[in-house]
Amino acid sequence: MSVPAATPLAPRRDVALLPGYHSPQVEVAVRLNANEAPEPPPGEFFEELRRELGGVALNRYPDREALALREAVGRLHSLPPERVYCANGSNEVLQSICLAYGGPGRAAAVFEPSYALHPHIARVTGTEVVEAERDAEMLIGERELGRLLEHAARRGPSSPEIVFLCSPNNPTGRAEPRTTVERVLESAPGLVVVDEAYGQFSSWSACELLAGHPNLVVVRTFSKTWSLAGLRLGYALADPAVIEALGRVTLPYHLDSLKQLAGRIALRYEGAMHERVARLVEERARLVEGLLRLGLEPYPSDANFVLFKVGARDAQAVWRGLLERSVLVRDVSGWPRLAGCLRVTVGTPAEDDAFLAALAEALG
Ligand SMILES: Cc1ncc(COP(=O)(O)O)c(C=O)c1O
Repeated sequence: MSVPAATPLAPRRDVALLPGYHSPQVEVAVRLNANEAPEPPPGEFFEELRRELGGVALNRYPDREALALREAVGRLHSLPPERVYCANGSNEVLQSICLAYGGPGRAAAVFEPSYALHPHIARVTGTEVVEAERDAEMLIGERELGRLLEHAARRGPSSPEIVFLCSPNNPTGRAEPRTTVERVLESAPGLVVVDEAYGQFSSWSACELLAGHPNLVVVRTFSKTWSLAGLRLGYALADPAVIEALGRVTLPYHLDSLKQLAGRIALRYEGAMHERVARLVEERARLVEGLLRLGLEPYPSDANFVLFKVGARDAQAVWRGLLERSVLVRDVSGWPRLAGCLRVTVGTPAEDDAFLAALAEALG
């Protein structure tokens, strides 16, 4: 049978115009570009996983409601499973939020610079993006918030339907003050999504505000502090009505049985997770000192990464210089408002030493 010459159908016009996700995945000796955990979960986690894997009925579909996993996540936060939604990484959680509450005719607000996937996922789902800026300290001031809400209100009384916050904020590093989140919760006409991918590094969590704020959604992930980026598991905590709405846009059986099991077992090692976080906080201070010694300008960080300015040098050239020395960091210098900046993940002491040595050479 002859195959007709391909005349591919053009994708949706707005999809054709979307930029892709540009974060190079290359083989290097020192990988400090994606804010992953440098340490794996404890050996006991893998032993338990191996023991329990044999009991998984892979010939059957998984529990569609992922109830045992949601109960375990709920216990971690002292919440019932009706207030927990799980998905394949927090990116999928964010996508479900945009599918259920965004879409054509609706808008999502972001405070730049922030996590690039918030506006990206919003646009993929046909949601309009309303951009506001952080202040010089990379925080959200009254002025920025006021401007955003004024701008959004011109679209209609319930716009923006979604406000994205990120605390600690990626890529700038600082946690949002509690008063900022409270202020946004009071004034936003729709949902306020607080992305806490790095939440365990912060001295406070928006989870504390869940009671009494049915418009709040807190999003977390197993990818960072739980050392399980390869597992692809994240979750949202919210009012049961929001969780129910997220379920409506979710494909049946979206969380496989192995993931549900691994997620439940991981939560038994909360203590080990907090110990890893404490080690990273210590190591972050050493990394920041190293950057300062090289005459660079690191931004304050409440997370497992540090944004820094390379001064008068060309940030892209410094990034390439690092890559030539087999060290990969994130080049964010092309992002709006981040000219001259690179972002480095806190690694093991050996990885950070290798990074600092390579950086000293790359800077010349
Ligand atoms: C702020 C923020 N949210 C969400 C994610 C995505 O995490 P996940 O691996 O759970 O999809 C990241 C990953 O870098 C992130 O920095």
